[in-house]
Amino acid sequence: MSQLEIEPLHDDFGARVTGAALSGDLSDAVLAQIRDAIDRYSFLCFPGQDMTDEKQLAFTRLLGEPEAEHVTFGKTGRVTYFGTVGNVQDDGSTKGSADPGTHYQTGNELWHSDSSFREVPSFVSILPAYEVPGEGGATAFASMRAAYARLPDDLRAAIDPLTVLHDYVFSRSRVAPVDPNHAASLPPVVHKLVRQNPANGLRNYYVGSHARSIPGWSGIDSRRLLDDLLERATRPQDIYAHHWQAGDTVIWDNRCLLHRGAGYDADRWRRRMRQTRVVGSEKGVVPGS
Ligand SMILES: [Fe+2]
Repeated sequence: MSQLEIEPLHDDFGARVTGAALSGDLSDAVLAQIRDAIDRYSFLCFPGQDMTDEKQLAFTRLLGEPEAEHVTFGKTGRVTYFGTVGNVQDDGSTKGSADPGTHYQTGNELWHSDSSFREVPSFVSILPAYEVPGEGGATAFASMRAAYARLPDDLRAAIDPLTVLHDYVFSRSRVAPVDPNHAASLPPVVHKLVRQNPANGLRNYYVGSHARSIPGWSGIDSRRLLDDLLERATRPQDIYAHHWQAGDTVIWDNRCLLHRGAGYDADRWRRRMRQTRVVGSEKGVVPGS
């Protein structure tokens, strides 16, 4: 049986993994090791992958149901599984920093968990890097599992029973207007504030830029708690910043990690990454539905 080599990247989470070529024909044994590593490390970087869209989608399906990319789906009703991250278009041309599409992606520079605003949020995101900027463009990650474990007992007990409303239009409107059809496709959704990994029982809280309020609380009290929890998870020593190399394929666990892009000069550099996501297993509640 082939054995993955796993090298931790940060005290709290993250690992660099070698010994597997990611595609749809991984053995069950290697796939089980990858699943275990996701549950344990939350962030996995597989360097030097010879990735393509076809291999990525096949690998994505091994981990679960691919998630429909919400921007295309919300605007047009068309299901695609890939989101392009960066400024390189399908025809190879680039969009500069003044382009609305480039600007729209700056919403990703706020700490967030992908798809936390969906009724069923994502399990993992999978992101291979094909072209990376020579400067900037790192992605920072932080663990809400480690942050939950650090909480004082009284705060941990206080947040355990709470829920939290996640709202894409609330968060993205801070940087750019959201297409009306897209907005209508993503009504605000209530999730548990504290979630538990079903495989290992470890708990974490679940906040980020899409977290708008605590149902039943005033706006100011909600904001105080959500900002405090975000701050506690993202102190400088809690962060692992991933400096991308072309050929990296990264998988991260959206159930318990936050991330944010650091920005780069889109007029100077090319950046091309292709993202897929896997649908999670916990369903939230859309109020009024
Ligand atoms: Fe993201």
